[in-house]
Amino acid sequence: MQNFVFHNPTKILFGAGQIAAIGPEIPTGARVLITYGGGSIIKNGTLDEVKQALAEVATVEFGGIEPNPTYETLMQAVELARREHVDFLLAVGGGSVIDGTKFIAAAIPFDGDPWEILSRQAPIRAAVPLGTVLTLPATGSEMNGAAVITRAATHDKLAFIDPSVFPRFSVLDPTKTFTLPPRQIANGIVDAFAHIAEQYLTYPADAKVQDRFAEGLLLTLIEEGPKALAEPRDEAVRANLMWTATLALNGLIGAGVPQDWATHMVGHEITALHGLDHAQTLAVVLPAMLQIRRLDKRAKLLQYAERVWNLTEGQEDERIDAAITRTRDFFESLQVPTRLSGYGIGEEAIAPLVAQLERHGMTRLGERADVDLERSRQVLELAL
Ligand code: NZQ
Ligand code: ZN
Repeated sequence: MQNFVFHNPTKILFGAGQIAAIGPEIPTGARVLITYGGGSIIKNGTLDEVKQALAEVATVEFGGIEPNPTYETLMQAVELARREHVDFLLAVGGGSVIDGTKFIAAAIPFDGDPWEILSRQAPIRAAVPLGTVLTLPATGSEMNGAAVITRAATHDKLAFIDPSVFPRFSVLDPTKTFTLPPRQIANGIVDAFAHIAEQYLTYPADAKVQDRFAEGLLLTLIEEGPKALAEPRDEAVRANLMWTATLALNGLIGAGVPQDWATHMVGHEITALHGLDHAQTLAVVLPAMLQIRRLDKRAKLLQYAERVWNLTEGQEDERIDAAITRTRDFFESLQVPTRLSGYGIGEEAIAPLVAQLERHGMTRLGERADVDLERSRQVLELAL
């Protein structure tokens, strides 16, 4: 196992009705900016519930944070927060609202152009504290220090990671996911699956707990994911899905093991240029990425085949092929297409995607930093 430091400061309030418990989590006397997306939380009553819980607290609201949140929109919230002297942020929504709110938190006190937090990974000296109410199990943003922000004008989708933007608390109420459309439930399953794969399907590090934890999370997604689609109001299923997605990217399974993230970096460029949902890009890239890098990932792919898909018969290469096919079939079974062509994207898209990777310095990706532009191109070609 590799050396690691693990510190996750986010307090989790899990279960139905937990929004009512957020009052005491807000610092006394704080002026709170409630941030949200396109209005789902207004329609399903979650915003009212939050406001009720904060009846004694001074609040300001900012709505309209879009999926794949943009710098352009978020800077309007930064201006509002500065003007209103806000000193706590409460994100109510999915990964986009939470990521966007992390950026707002870091941008409010930032000296200079906050885009530099992303473009040149400028150090964050201070951030306004934030909490979250999660409405979409997928990204793990509710319990990590990462955010992915898009600059619409230039088609840049870039990430930053900083301990100062870990949420102070997150409410995970599975019943808040009942109103999600099937496409977003499926997206969440695929995203969480890919997060686990990026930290598990690398090379062996003799990290037994992390491996078995990752396998347990994958098996839970395979078991509960289809049920979440078939029985949209099953609270127990949603509870398991929600906690799985959080644990998939809260640092636990990634501690002490090599990490990949090439699938995500290539996927971000597809969203930036073609607007696919984040998870749709992962469904396209992951199976092709595993196939192209099957030699490097051989030992873990065999372990994955056996422990996750129960594939123990036949030659090793056959088992690896079958495991990759099972992965693809699982995504397809959730109605998430796994080919670029499934989204109307053809061969002509590949050169611009590779050029974006180059422009963003994504030239040495993966757990061995050996996924260069040529390999990314091969992955995209295989994903057509
Ligand atoms: O905007 P509203 O009206 O709220 O609608 C949203 C949005 O249209 C809707 N929705 C959310 N909760 C709902 C709901 N509709 C009905 N009922 C509910 N309870 O779902 C749509 C998608 O929401 P979004 O937040 O965009 O989805 P997701 O949670 O998948 O977040 C994706 C973003 O997270 C980033 C992605 O790149 C993408 O920008 N990621 C963040 C990561 C992190 N911080 O660690 C890691 C991930 O790999 C990922 O990159
Ligand atoms: Zn992701």
